[in-house]
Amino acid sequence: MSTTYTIDSSTSRATPVSAPMKRLTVPAIRKRKGGDPLVMLTAYTVRMAQLLDPHCDMLLVGDSLGQVVYGLPSTIPVTLEMMAAHGAAVVRGSYHSLVIVDMPFGSYEASPQQAFESASWMLKQTGAAAVKMEGGTAMAETVRFLTERGIPVMGHVGLTPQAVNALGGYGARGRSQEEASAIIDDGRAIAAAGAFALVVEGVVEPIAIELTRSIDCPAIGIGASAQCDGQVLVAEDMLGLFERTPRFVKKFEDMAGRISAAVEAYAGDVRSRAFPGSEQTYAPKN
Ligand code: KIV
Repeated sequence: MSTTYTIDSSTSRATPVSAPMKRLTVPAIRKRKGGDPLVMLTAYTVRMAQLLDPHCDMLLVGDSLGQVVYGLPSTIPVTLEMMAAHGAAVVRGSYHSLVIVDMPFGSYEASPQQAFESASWMLKQTGAAAVKMEGGTAMAETVRFLTERGIPVMGHVGLTPQAVNALGGYGARGRSQEEASAIIDDGRAIAAAGAFALVVEGVVEPIAIELTRSIDCPAIGIGASAQCDGQVLVAEDMLGLFERTPRFVKKFEDMAGRISAAVEAYAGDVRSRAFPGSEQTYAPKN
């Protein structure tokens, strides 16, 4: 996919502008059920969106930004305003992928009406096409309410990080028969309520496979199974920006190592006065 650059003279930064292309739509994503695997990554900033967009089908502005960007202990403190600011940046930085914004904890669970107000505000603020909400059977009525009123919803079942206080941690779910059945029921209820796709997170593999086969919308796995209809990861995890890598993450790069090496080299050059060199300094006009 080709990318051209225009210079923004007010900031003197090169802003990549993709060749004109049509953004993927919710119905187009839904149609991919059982087809070529869907590629989804999280993005929180305009520059990451620009870099990820040509390779992805969907960009998720995940509330994981609470930990990744803000250093918060969980996603619980994330606010609607934080999600809206990052959602708008990711929409500005992308041309191709469908952009989905996470609804933060406390902004949608109380009632379908609360969810509609929060989600409609989010779509207006960001220009994103859809929202994601965590929760199973208890959220099905809300998913239906929003879907029937023109707000596409991506569901999220299995390990639902906003429920960390109730779950007691981030361990994989569905190891007991009872838990496995409940997760499958949750996923089916959300899909039947009209979700256009469903994130299946942190479950033992047979649950992910059964759920993928038994719903009519794409199941997007994270810590789930390669047999899901697509995969999502936190981009910073797969790029190796953190020392600790969860079991379900494959590190495709060692960004932490590369950044450390680059900054060490910069610090050395500054201290030895090798930087700035003649290429980086301005000569007077003759
Ligand atoms: O917030 C997030 O990043 C997510 C994905 C990891 C699915 O919900």
